[in-house]
Formats: sequence, C-alpha cells, structure tokens
Amino acid sequence: MVNYKVANESLADQGKEALYIAESKMPVTAKVIRERFQREKPLKGIIIAGCLHITKETGNLARTLKAGGAEVYLCGSNPLSTQDNVAAALVQEGINVFAWHGNTDEEFYWCIRQCLDAKPNILIDDGADMIVTAHQEYKDLITSGTIIACQEETTTGVKRFKAMDKQGVLKVPLFPVNDARCKNQFDNELGTGQGIVSAIYGMHVLFAGKNVVIAGYGHCSSGMALRARGLGANVIVTEVDPIKALQAKFSGYQVMPIEDTLANADIILTATGCKHVIAPKKEMFDKFKNGVILGNLGHFDIEVPTKELYEYAKEIKPIRQDVEELIFPDGKRIYLLAKGRLANLVLSEGHPAEVMDMSFGLQSLMSEYIVKNKNSLKPGMIEVPVEIDDRVGFLKLQSMGVEIDKLTEEQYNYIHGFLEGT
Ligand SMILES: NC(=O)c1ccc[n+]([C@@H]2O[C@H](COP(=O)([O-])OP(=O)(O)OC[C@H]3O[C@@H](n4cnc5c(N)ncnc54)[C@H](O)[C@@H]3O)[C@@H](O)[C@H]2O)c1
Repeated sequence: MVNYKVANESLADQGKEALYIAESKMPVTAKVIRERFQREKPLKGIIIAGCLHITKETGNLARTLKAGGAEVYLCGSNPLSTQDNVAAALVQEGINVFAWHGNTDEEFYWCIRQCLDAKPNILIDDGADMIVTAHQEYKDLITSGTIIACQEETTTGVKRFKAMDKQGVLKVPLFPVNDARCKNQFDNELGTGQGIVSAIYGMHVLFAGKNVVIAGYGHCSSGMALRARGLGANVIVTEVDPIKALQAKFSGYQVMPIEDTLANADIILTATGCKHVIAPKKEMFDKFKNGVILGNLGHFDIEVPTKELYEYAKEIKPIRQDVEELIFPDGKRIYLLAKGRLANLVLSEGHPAEVMDMSFGLQSLMSEYIVKNKNSLKPGMIEVPVEIDDRVGFLKLQSMGVEIDKLTEEQYNYIHGFLEGT
C-alpha cells in the first residue's frame, strides 16, 4: 500500500514526462547505478525517508533507491519547491509522498512526521529539518538503532549538524554529502550559478548593463557572479570573509559592504546561508533603488528580510507567478521573488538534471555504503569516503565519453613520497 498526500493526482501523466526527461540526463543515477541496484538489491528491507525538494531529479533518486529494494518515503524540504506533477507521478510508482506546493509551516512538519512515522532506517535531508525533528520528537528511532545513519544534502544543513555535533547533541552517524567534491563543486556552483536565470524568469529582465549585487562569494554565489557577468551585468560582490572577498576582487568584481550597494542595485541576489544579509531596518529599505528586484537562492527565507519587508510595505501585489510587487509608504516599488525562498527552485525548475545526477549518484551509493557498514558507524559527522566521491566522478566522465590519465606507479610513489627533490 502506498501512503501519500499530494496536491492533485490527475497531474501524474505530466509528472511522468518530467521524470522521463530528467532520467535521460541522469546517466549515473538513473542508469548505471539504477541497473546495478535492480540486479543486486543492496537496499532490500531498508526504509529510506527523504526530506528533499520534490523535483523530477529527486524523483529519479527515489526510483533508483526503490530499484535497489528500499521502501521510499518523501516529503518536501521547502514549502514552495514541490513540483506537484512529479509528486503525483511518484505515488503511481509506489513511492510514499507527502508533499505539495505551497504548504504551511504546520503542514510542512506534518509531512515530515508522516515520513518519520514509517520508522525509516536512513534519512536523507536537505536543510536538516527532518533529522532535527527526529532528534526532538522521535528519539526512540535513534536509541533503538532503527535509524542507521543520515545524509545531508545542503550547506545550511551541514552547518546545523556541525553545531549539533559540537554541542554533543548529534546522536546519529551523519554524512555531509554536500561537502563531497562531486556535490558542492557542481550542484552548488553550476546549478545555483545558473539559478540567476530564475531572476530573469521572475521579471523577464535584461541583465546586460544592470548593477547586479551578489551577496556571498562561496560555492553558490561565486557561480552566480560568474554567470551574471557572462550576461553582461556589472557585478558587485558583498562578503564577510576576507579571503573570499579577495578572491572576488582578484576575479575582477567590485567588492563593498551591502549597504553601499543599495542605492544603485537593480538586482540583488543572496546565497550566503546567513540571516539578514540586508538588515531588516527601515533605513536600509529607504536606500533601495526604485524597482529593485530582490531574490534569495540560499536555503532559508531570512537572507533577505522577507517578513520585515512585508510588514513595511503598504501594499503587496502579486504580479506574476511567485513574484510580488511591494509598494512602500513613499510610493517606491520593489519586486520580491519567491517570497524570499529559493528562487531557482520556486521560479524555475531547480538545478538541471545533469548536475543533480552527481549529487544523487552520491546519495544512492552512500545509501548502499550505510547498509554495508551499518555495524561500524558511530554517531557524529563522518566524511563521505573519497572512493565514493571518485567513483561518481568517474561514472560521470564515462557517461560523457571523457577519458583521463591514470597515475603510473612511479608517479604515485613520487607524489606520495619525500625523498625525491632538487
Ligand atoms: N538554491 C539552491 O538550489 C542551493 C543549492 C545549494 C546550496 N544552497 C544554499 O545556499 C547557501 C550557500 O551555500 P554555499 O554552498 O554557497 O555556502 P558557502 O559556505 O560555500 O558560501 C557562503 C558564502 O557566504 C558568505 N557570507 C556569509 N554571511 C554573509 C553575509 N552576511 N554577507 C555576505 N556574505 C556572507 C560566506 O563567507 C561564504 O563565502 C546555503 O544556504 C545552502 O544551503 C542553495
């Protein structure tokens, strides 16, 4: 029996087409690994719960885990990122889905609890909400050893788990899959980088000649700066880390405090994992240029001061799907994308399937690794084994027909030794 609550089951056929298109672009997750899983069933008898963006790419991860023998439960990791047609299609394929676009905070946690009620053995999270809920409300799943281990997909989630680990309250083995090279160097940089296109979708604006402010110069934001420059924008970067700021400066961007950018910024896009990158103060709001577009691609909706902007505006007009015009008391208008939530997922379709192929290839192989090593995993943060990271890298290259050199024994000994010098 499939357990589920989705928005509209009649969207399933549309969702199947979306899954099919993504599948053709995910040769590692949806072909090589899935076919092996189908034969070997390494996840037989295992229940996996994913709190992830319910997109066509996540749908293909779920299908691969199911092909491996797992019973899969899914809920959304963001109230606005669920693709309702994909959710409906997955239910028809026997995946237990609790997700719909536009759920409230209360419904969001109800969906998480439905997945935890299934007593999962592996949790795959995106932002930490499910695993934190398990620690708070489902302690028996942890103490009884039902949960074997967990995986975290995004930077903000990893930060939360590092904080838990430091305080000694992380009680499960936790693999920060986000930190694997095959994840953050591609998904974050290329996927979120290309996510600036969502700002174009949002307002249909020309980037060329515009002053585009990118807050942060990390994995996601440096990718966004590069692509905004590629579209002809004058890019200004803001940072709090001196080294990242130097990297941005030496890459040819203007670097300055965010407050100094406000009067001239046409578009401001954040991806920092921090809160209140623009301080929630009237004096800041008064500095905005009329017509500025504000968007966030970081995990939570507090990077731009969404709540305070709504309170300050005298009128809020929805003007396109997931875009609002906020009219300030002095008549100034600003445009807020996706209610301050992940604009690339809400306004467009999230990361392209090609990059998610690597992230979800990692999640698939890590699920297998967790089952194989279940007796030796200890609570706390555990790095993704480099062999698994490399394996996904090789599979991706192979699928693209790209070959690379192999170290000879002599070369291996040289780069791992110290005797050979001048
Ligand atoms: N939109 C998506 O689809 C997507 C994908 C991956 C990650 N994310 C999220 O994006 C955010 C960033 O992830 P990342 O991997 O780039 O992290 P990162 O740590 O690589 O980069 C964040 C950067 O922001 C800078 N920063 C922090 N506070 C700042 C502030 N107040 N002002 C200016 N700069 C500041 C940091 O110094 C750092 O250089 C996280 O919330 C992550 O979960 C979103």
